[in-house]
This record gives sequence, structure tokens and C-alpha cells, in this order.
Amino acid sequence: MCLRTCVGLMVLVVAMMAGMAKAESNNAKVSYDATARVFRLDADRVSYVFGVNENDQLQTLYWGSKLAEGDSFKRAHSARGTSSFDPSVNATLQEYLGWGGGAYVEPDLKVTFPDGNRDLVLHYVSHHIEGNGLTIVVKDISRNIFVTLAYEMDAKTGVLARSAKIENRTSAPLTIEQASAATWNLPGDADYQLYYLTGRWAGEWNLQHQAILPGKTVLESRRGSTGDETNPWFAIERGTSADEDMGEVWFGALGWSGSWQIAVEQGSERQVRVTGGFTPFDFAYRLAPGGALETPKFYAGYSREGVGGASRLLHQFELGSVVPGAPRNHVRPVIYNSWEATGFEVNEAGQEALAERAASIGVERFVMDDGWFGERKNDTAGLGDWEVNSAKFPHGLSPLIGKVHSLGMDFGLWVEPEMINRDSELYRKHPDWVLGFPGRPQTEARHQLVLNLARPDVRAYVYEFLDKLLSTYDIAFLKWDYNRNWSEPGWPAVAPEDQKKVYVDYVRNLYGILADLRAKHPKVEIESCSGGGARVDLGIIHYTDEVWPSDNTDPFDRLSIQNGFTYAYAPRLMMAWVTDSPNWVNRRSTSLEYRFLSSMQGGLGIGANLNGWTEDDFKVAKKMVEQYKQIRATVQNGALYRLISPLGGSEWSVTESVSSDRRDAVVFAFLHSSQMGHAYPRVFPRGLDQRATYRVHALDGQLTSDSATVASGEYWMHNGLSIDLRGDFQAAVVTLVEEEAHR
Ligand code: GLA
Repeated sequence: MCLRTCVGLMVLVVAMMAGMAKAESNNAKVSYDATARVFRLDADRVSYVFGVNENDQLQTLYWGSKLAEGDSFKRAHSARGTSSFDPSVNATLQEYLGWGGGAYVEPDLKVTFPDGNRDLVLHYVSHHIEGNGLTIVVKDISRNIFVTLAYEMDAKTGVLARSAKIENRTSAPLTIEQASAATWNLPGDADYQLYYLTGRWAGEWNLQHQAILPGKTVLESRRGSTGDETNPWFAIERGTSADEDMGEVWFGALGWSGSWQIAVEQGSERQVRVTGGFTPFDFAYRLAPGGALETPKFYAGYSREGVGGASRLLHQFELGSVVPGAPRNHVRPVIYNSWEATGFEVNEAGQEALAERAASIGVERFVMDDGWFGERKNDTAGLGDWEVNSAKFPHGLSPLIGKVHSLGMDFGLWVEPEMINRDSELYRKHPDWVLGFPGRPQTEARHQLVLNLARPDVRAYVYEFLDKLLSTYDIAFLKWDYNRNWSEPGWPAVAPEDQKKVYVDYVRNLYGILADLRAKHPKVEIESCSGGGARVDLGIIHYTDEVWPSDNTDPFDRLSIQNGFTYAYAPRLMMAWVTDSPNWVNRRSTSLEYRFLSSMQGGLGIGANLNGWTEDDFKVAKKMVEQYKQIRATVQNGALYRLISPLGGSEWSVTESVSSDRRDAVVFAFLHSSQMGHAYPRVFPRGLDQRATYRVHALDGQLTSDSATVASGEYWMHNGLSIDLRGDFQAAVVTLVEEEAHR
């Protein structure tokens, strides 16, 4: 006992003597070498190193594969500018750059002081290490504007969270015109590839890929919310690897559900930098003396296993550290949702009939969608009036909820709290509660306007009606919708110089409402929906349990949508519904099995009109729901390998999920249409324990007759699976389960 303590003390003394300070927690380590003025963060398989250079600037030194304990860094030295046209400040890899001193690269912070001064040069002041966390205070060279930079590395994945808190300690207000969470400097190398995600309503999650060349690629939303045009995620690969599970990849995502920007820039020094936070477009945040502005968190990590490995780390991080209740490893229930069956025509008898049918196939959560409140006959009226419609539900929602419970399901409800129709009691009473500029038109979208959640009275109203609903009724789940983006983002109730705060204060209040509701109603789960996947980001998933990736429920389109989604977000977060065929999006007809197998790759939902189903449909659905329940823990929480991509007109696509203990795996295989009599390609699973023995079983579909049934992980990974798929829109699901006896 004394031996350990004494040795420990000696190590500490030696470390202190050498000018080293260290903090360790759960395999993450933050250390500071006071002699060289170098900070180092290590966790999992990642090291991140930066130092204070001779000009007191924070300078990136290393970010990548984990280094040896003994590897040390010399004191950082600023880069020399190459000519009178390129001052040193642009070539020096700064961690957090103020706009000033001749900076032309994307700054992290740009400020205007009341005397007109717009020069900001940030220098190191102090730091503090605690657990996995490090905070560093930097300050302008002459003015009392302080920025606290926070660094926290996740022990399990090496994902580093960075953010900044900007404080005005001068005696006059100042205006922040641009504020990022962080700049990530990549190792000096010209040959990088950028991946990012783009889309539009019903066509979200397209993976884009391009070489990073000199210049700047700006990924951005000016929409007031995350948006689906681009998602706040990136991955950067060094060189180009032929295999998505190979190669070095740096990746990141912003935790912000408002307007945002990620700028990927290769400057004249051929250095790649990624800067992200609030978009500077139309941004101005006035900070009174003593005031502070906190940026969102910008998370980033590193993988040596390609974009595939990057997404697996990100999934692990999301489920382990970001989602509500993390790292609790639970499974999502199978839901039924009434939207595609009934549209706005909901009523007690109709919903109860659907609930009975849903329960008969094994559904665990019944969700009533739009149409239950106010005068909501269609999308022109009712938003804002969150009282139960008494013509549709004469006795309130209790009889329906009671019925749903008696069938063994819990109950969920659709809401769209941030929106208002002009044709509503709320609008007639509070026309001033919406975003808009006085005397100017207010652009409607889906006949609705956006409530200004930045206003304290609107925030209170939204919280109160939701709290009342959740207190009155036994509601287990809210589908929180948001069916348009902003236009005319005016906030006339505050001084003109404070109106642009709406971009920040709105989102903070949204998070505040979600946090308060969750605290008061801890059992309630929430889905983030925005007419599909227009509000999916690491900010909203800190408060919501799942997201709706797209209104497009065509099972074939979904293969690409889901493929793109999983580059950034975990399958457990991704709701996928089985709906009617032909699909409303494109009139494509597919079998019920195919629709189920496509949806079973995420959180399974059924959104079809069960009133139109045949007895056979119910039988098939019951069987598929049972199958799903057998595999869902692995599908939702396991490591995802995208074995064959559905992109580029591929005839096939295959995914595999491996449980965290590697004792079982689930392989989904899809065939678009057989051509020229080609056999289905052999499928090579990954991530199995090579020495363990696995039994293969086709849960749905079939393996070819010459397939082995029991073999080693090595065998399956290298000899492959031979799946028998022929025809059009065919699919199979195959499991690999470790044999107990061989463990
Ligand atoms: C959005 C959602 C749909 C449905 C409708 C209801 O479009 O994405 O799933 O809830 O709103 O109006």
C-alpha cells in the first residue's frame, strides 16, 4: 500500500520538478509542460498538442494518432510570413485567432469597439487543468476583452470538444461580429479530401466529396436553424483511400441548431484550417460591460480507419456522451405514427382503431401526429392553439391514451411549438410574437410564421403549454416538429442594436425549454423533426432522443438517405418508417418485406395506413417486428460498417452492425434490380472476432445452398457470405451469432 503511494508521490514530485503538470481521468490525460509551454491532450488513440509561442499566441503543434508518452515538443515558434504580403499571423497555426494584426484567414473572433477600433490581438494569460478538461484564458493586448477557451477530450473516443466564452470587461458595450468555437489546424499537407452532407426537403443526406484546393469552402446555414441544405459536419481524409475503412481522417461536427458556419480553408501557405461557430452573416452581438457570449461546442476527432472509422467514433461519442441520459444503452421502441394514414383527420374512434391494429403487430409506442388541437383542419389554421380539439376528442385525450395503454403501448404526441398560423387564437391575441420587421411583409411558408422564441414571454408560453400537456396527460413521447426556416428575422421589441441577438437567444431559449421540460418530466422522450432532417445536429441531440431524417419514406431512396445520415449520426437516432406502397414520393412499388428491411436499419416505425392492410400484411408485419426486436440492440447501438454503398447507381447495398462485445452481427443486403444474371456479390463482414466461431442465419431472405453455417470470424471476414438475392427490390437480413461453446 505504502509502496504504491510512495512511488506515486515520487512520480508527482519528479514531474513537478521537471515543470510538468498532469491530470488524468478515465484514460484521458491533459498535461502541461511549463518549460516548453506546451499543452497535450491524449485519449483513446488520439493526441492533440499545442503551445504558447514567443508572441504569446496559442499555436497548434500536433493533432493525430496517439504519440508515445515520452514524445515531447519544443516551444512553439510562430511561422515567418513569406513576404510583405503575407504577415506571420496568417501562416502561424493559431488555435483561436482574433481579427487584427494583419489576419486575412478566417478569424475566430471579430469585434468592433465603440471608439471604432476593430483590431483584436489575443494573447495567452492563464490556464487551468481539471479532469479531462483544460481552460485557457486569452486576452486582447490592450483592452479588457477576455476569451476563455475550453477543451475537453472524451476518454473513450478521443473526440475533443472545444468552445469559447467571450467576456467584455471594459466599461463600454462592444459588438461581436463573428464568433467561432474553434479553429482546427490539420497537419501541413496539400493533399486532402473533404466530405460533407447536403440536401433539401425529402432529399436529405447526400454525401459530397471534393479535393481541398487553395481557397475556401464555406458550409453554412443562414436559415435561423440547422437546415438540410448542408449539415454542420465534415470529414477530411489525407490522400484518397479506395476503402472507406482505411486512411487517416479528421472529422468534426458543430453542436448548434441555429445559423452556423464551418469554413474549410487552404490559405497561401497551403495549410488547411477548419473554423466553425455562428455564421458571421447578419451577425452582431452587443455585449454590455460585464456581459458574456458563449459559442456552441465544436467537436472533432481523428481516425486511422477512414471515414468508416470516423463515423463509428462519432456514433460512439454521440451515444456515450451527447444524447440525453448518455451513456445509458437502451433500445428505441417500435413506434406507430398516424400521419401518413390519416393526415389532419384524426379523431378518437379513428385513432383507437389504428392503435388496436398497431398493437396487434407488436408496436410499443403509438404516436398521434398533427391535427388534434385548435381549429387544425388543415395546414392553414390552428398552430399556436395547443388545446385539444373538442369536436375530434370530446373527452380530451384521456380515453385515447387509456386505450393505447390498455393495448400495452405508450403514447406519443406531435407538436410544433415554435410556429403559428395567422388563422389562430394565439396570432389574433399576439401578432407581435412573430419574427418580422414592422411595416414589411412577413413571408409565410406552409401558411405559418415563426414565433420569436428569443422573447421571454414567448419562451414562457411555449414552456407552459407543453408543461401543461405533459402534466395533464400520460405522454411518453413528443414528436417536436419545425416545418419551415426563418424569413425577415426582426425583433422589434428590443433596441435595433440588439435585434440580431435573435440568432443566439432564440436557440438558447429552445434548448432551455427542452432542458426544463426534461428536468420536470424525466420520463418523456423527444424526437427532433423538421419537415424531415432539417434540424439534426449535436446541439439538438443533446436534448432529444431521436431524429426524423427525412419525410421521404420510399424504402429505396431511404437506403441513400440513411447511408448519408450515418456518416455523421448514429443509427439509434435515425427513425425509419414503413409506409404504404406505392410510395407517395415517387409512386414506387415495393414489397412489405423490403420496406421493413430498409427501415429496420434504424429505429423502426410504422407509418402505413393499417386500415388498408390485408390479413397477410399483418402476418408479415408481425413477423418482421419480431425479427427486428431480436436484432435491434445490435443495429441501434452497435458499430456500423457500410460494406457496399448504395450511391452512384449501385445495383446493391449492404450494411453490417456489430455488437460492442463482438458476439453478434447483423448484415442487411439490398438488391436494386438484377442485371445480366449477375449473382449477388459476396459480402465480407468486418469487425468480428477473428478467433471466435459464429453461426450464420438468414433471418429473412436466404443464403446460397453451398454456404457454411458455422465458421470462424476469420472465415466470414475473408471468405465472405453468399447471399441469394435475385429480382427487383429484394432484400435479406443475415445474423452472425457467436457459438457459446467456442467462447
Ligand atoms: C412534417 C413532418 C411529418 C408530419 C407533418 C405534420 O412534414 O415531417 O412527419 O408530422 O409535418 O404536419
